[in-house]
Amino acid sequence: MNTITLTQPDDWHAHLRDGKALERTVPDLSSQFHRAICMPNLVPPVKTVEEAIAYRKRIMAHVPEGVAFDPRMVLYLTDHTSTDEIQKIKQSEHVNAVKLYPAGATTNSANGVSDIRNVYAVLEQLQKHQVPLLLHGEVTHSHIDIFDREKRFLDEVLQPVIQQFPDLKIVLEHITTADAAQFVLAQSDKVAATITPQHLLFNRNDMLVGGIKPHFYCLPILKRQSHQATLLEVATSGNPKFFLGTDSAPHAQDAKENACGCAGCYSAFTAIELYAQAFDQAGKIERLEGFASHFGADFYGLPRNTQQITLVKEDCIVPDSFNYLEDQKIIPLLAGKTLQWRKV
Ligand code: DOR
Ligand code: ZN
Repeated sequence: MNTITLTQPDDWHAHLRDGKALERTVPDLSSQFHRAICMPNLVPPVKTVEEAIAYRKRIMAHVPEGVAFDPRMVLYLTDHTSTDEIQKIKQSEHVNAVKLYPAGATTNSANGVSDIRNVYAVLEQLQKHQVPLLLHGEVTHSHIDIFDREKRFLDEVLQPVIQQFPDLKIVLEHITTADAAQFVLAQSDKVAATITPQHLLFNRNDMLVGGIKPHFYCLPILKRQSHQATLLEVATSGNPKFFLGTDSAPHAQDAKENACGCAGCYSAFTAIELYAQAFDQAGKIERLEGFASHFGADFYGLPRNTQQITLVKEDCIVPDSFNYLEDQKIIPLLAGKTLQWRKV
């Protein structure tokens, strides 16, 4: 198969940042996706429906002429989020979910939730109104090994939450382990997961063998090859619990290539080509459409897109870098490398 036509895909997990960064991120992401769940970990975070609507307007101001892009907004859950705010989500046209970052888990998560039990009243409301809870699923205690943080989150945080709130809609974001994949498979259809291109295409050897490659550093961190294999298996299985979320996260080159480099891979501009590469390598290119274009919309209760895109099996060279902010660069995931599928 050398040409495939898909329903236009959506990105159910993306970071666009704010201000001048939007000049870069919005044209890149909207060249690929019709909708995107826009993560709220700004400084300060997006905590209310009012702030989310204002952020959405700033995003829309950067959508290129003629491009139909529909940012879906998310509120950042804190220890102090009020239950009234959840009611407001229900009435809002543009806000679709709430994101839980355990405090300190990743970029701009200092205002995150310090103990899940602090937000049980909010989870009750989310369950009642069927508003999805999006999770950065890692515990943060310093004594827990970074490679075990996702698994520990499943056992210590998520299992009790599901027991308490069995009808709560949950998306376990950017899963990285076989443990998370199996956990999601074992739950009801209220529990789903997103998977990034980097966790399908790479493992920790790619990041660490032959020298540290900071552009592969993201959180949750890349795991061993057997986890990568399971992620690829579930992503290409046709199971609607698993769908596309790039976690594309812009950081300037000097913030990545640094003695204390930031976490995040920038994949927005070639995201669907990266996923096509992974699916084709697994011999399952025909399963890409469900994962990229159907299952996320179905989970969120939104209509599937009506436009289509076409991919051809031709070389696609990932740009070496992109201009970013005043005078900086972003190095995208697989910069300068050749992918096998190209969106036309
Ligand atoms: O690698 C990551 N980068 N993981 C996250 O969870 C956040 C993201 C960011 O905002 O840079
Ligand atoms: Zn993210």
